[in-house]
Amino acid sequence: MRGIGEEAVRRCDLFKSSPFSDETGALTRRFLTPAHRAAIAQLSAWMRDAGMSVRLDPAGTLVGRYEGTGPGPTLLIGSHIDTVRDAGAYDGTLGVMLGLGVIEHLHRTGRRFPFAIELLAFGDEEGSRFPASMLGSRALAGCTLDDPALTQDEAGTTLAEALRDFGLDPAAIARASRSRDEILLYFEPHIEQGPVLEAEGLAVGIVTGISAQTRLSVEVRGEANHAGTTPMPLRRDALAAAAEAMLALEAIARRRNIVGTVGAVQAFPGLGNVVPGRAVFTVDLRAPRAEARDAAEAEFRDALAAICAARGVSAKVTLHQRLAPCFCDEEAQALLAESLRDLGLRPFWLASGAGHDGMSVATLAPVAMLFIRCAKGISHNPAEAVMAADVEIAAQVMLAFLTRLAVHSRLSLG
Ligand code: GLV
Ligand code: MN
Ligand code: MN
Repeated sequence: MRGIGEEAVRRCDLFKSSPFSDETGALTRRFLTPAHRAAIAQLSAWMRDAGMSVRLDPAGTLVGRYEGTGPGPTLLIGSHIDTVRDAGAYDGTLGVMLGLGVIEHLHRTGRRFPFAIELLAFGDEEGSRFPASMLGSRALAGCTLDDPALTQDEAGTTLAEALRDFGLDPAAIARASRSRDEILLYFEPHIEQGPVLEAEGLAVGIVTGISAQTRLSVEVRGEANHAGTTPMPLRRDALAAAAEAMLALEAIARRRNIVGTVGAVQAFPGLGNVVPGRAVFTVDLRAPRAEARDAAEAEFRDALAAICAARGVSAKVTLHQRLAPCFCDEEAQALLAESLRDLGLRPFWLASGAGHDGMSVATLAPVAMLFIRCAKGISHNPAEAVMAADVEIAAQVMLAFLTRLAVHSRLSLG
């Protein structure tokens, strides 16, 4: 029989292609698409085989429940099954497959804990279809949500339409919210998506917290005109202004030692012989501390205004998301460290620059995360890779952690 790690990797690899990807020859599984539906169907079958009851919550999160021996709060283990475009196979999906493998192991060996365990497969962590990310975990945590009738993907489909096509009721998303006292802890295993564990020569690490994150979109309006006849000084080129603003963002992020990214740009009308009259680009700003991120955003807005004034164009900035940093629960971090020591492993702590559903869940309940080494720190790229042996170690750490949590939760429940 395959180990838990090997099986989790095999399942992620299976999820790389049709019907679990919306693209041929690449992995793209976005929220509420046919690939998302296929992933839910396959995962539901695996969850049932692993002794779980299964439901899809009103925000499109698949929930498998493995009952405990007693009443009381539930341990949530989760991650996401949506991907960026042309993604790697392990970002998010590995955490879900690992949770599945661990519960499958408990089921096979007839083990239950005093608490029930729910395995969550969030459908929209990346925000790769609609402008804001983490819809499932925000709904679970009872955070404010955008109006589904006003939120559109790039094809003009509204979130409300996409939810309805998927069999979900847009008016009911908020019903996915949970109460604080039903949750013992949210635990997320995830690939590191950075180079630190590899440099340390370690399979897994304990996450201390997650960087604050802001998502904006910027629309610059100038004047479309003829590329051959409009002298350079008389142009109001929206794309040239946007380009200058993008370089300003890069300089601000470098100087402040944080990260700032423009990941998508569009120019209109988008023809080689027309001076662009309109340009739209995204901004992603992150820093471990909210103050540093907010100061960079303010500086960027000032720089953008100055660039627009100098070039005779205007800009509109839309805020899609401003997520607070997340601090992982200290008691859970200590339990994880003990679990690592139980297995003869060296505990090692690191922070996350990538965003995770835990950021939203942390506004409601304690959060813990375990990172798994990934090759060369590469992620959001089809070259993303993990070693099955590391995933197996993560599975063993999770089993040790569950055992410790059972004792700890009994003690703290008094
Ligand atoms: C998700 O992977 C993010 O960090 O944006
Ligand atoms: Mn992820
Ligand atoms: Mn990601």
